[in-house]
Amino acid sequence: MKNVEAVIAQKYNRRFTKFGAVPEASLWFSEDRQFMRFKLIADVLDQKLNGKGFSISDIGCGYGALLPYLSKRFPNVDFVYRGFDIAEKPINFCNKMYSLKNVTFKIGNIPDEESDFSVMSGTYNYSPVLSANVWQDYLFKNLTQIWKSSRLGIIFNVSVADEARITNQNISYFNKDNVKNFCESNLGRTSLFLSEKLPKEVTFFINKA
Ligand SMILES: C[S@@+](CC[C@H](N)C(=O)[O-])C[C@H]1O[C@@H](n2cnc3c(N)ncnc32)[C@H](O)[C@@H]1O
Repeated sequence: MKNVEAVIAQKYNRRFTKFGAVPEASLWFSEDRQFMRFKLIADVLDQKLNGKGFSISDIGCGYGALLPYLSKRFPNVDFVYRGFDIAEKPINFCNKMYSLKNVTFKIGNIPDEESDFSVMSGTYNYSPVLSANVWQDYLFKNLTQIWKSSRLGIIFNVSVADEARITNQNISYFNKDNVKNFCESNLGRTSLFLSEKLPKEVTFFINKA
């Protein structure tokens, strides 16, 4: 899938050059909706951590919007943030923008060190591949790899539909039961989180603890 990832990286690099560090660059409709996804992720962290410090790998971090969100949501909690993305333009931007202790940004799709949690928000939304089955296998392969460097679990969101499909605009929809069954059979206990405001999306938490 290296050539597929090159196509994805080119798409997001071009959008970053055109729009800059705003939700449109990440193919998001609005900051409101981007933040609703972050809230679902942060709620899981909150529940699991109860005020304790943590480390997090944000895979498909884009221009790093989750980092200031987490700093605001957890102002009194020490955390280590590691951002990864296959698109170099947003990563280069983040490296200039955030030179902070306990924060790193790297080009890549699999973390090179362990974190308590791995999170992926929208990472697998854009699919240049037109077969929903091939794309589902790609998601499962990535989850399996990322699982190895996740100490407490993985939190990720995808768009869902009764039948998995890729739209003409290359946006992917997964079948939530297939995803849950894969995660439970191969990785760990999996919970699903839904929001009325994001009716076509599901946030999954695969629990390793
Ligand atoms: C929809 S954007 C979301 C960005 C960010 N998570 C946010 O919510 O603002 C998806 C990002 O994932 C990146 N991406 C796509 N596939 C990836 C993969 N396999 N590994 C790492 N990054 C990936 C893209 O380059 C893009 O920056």
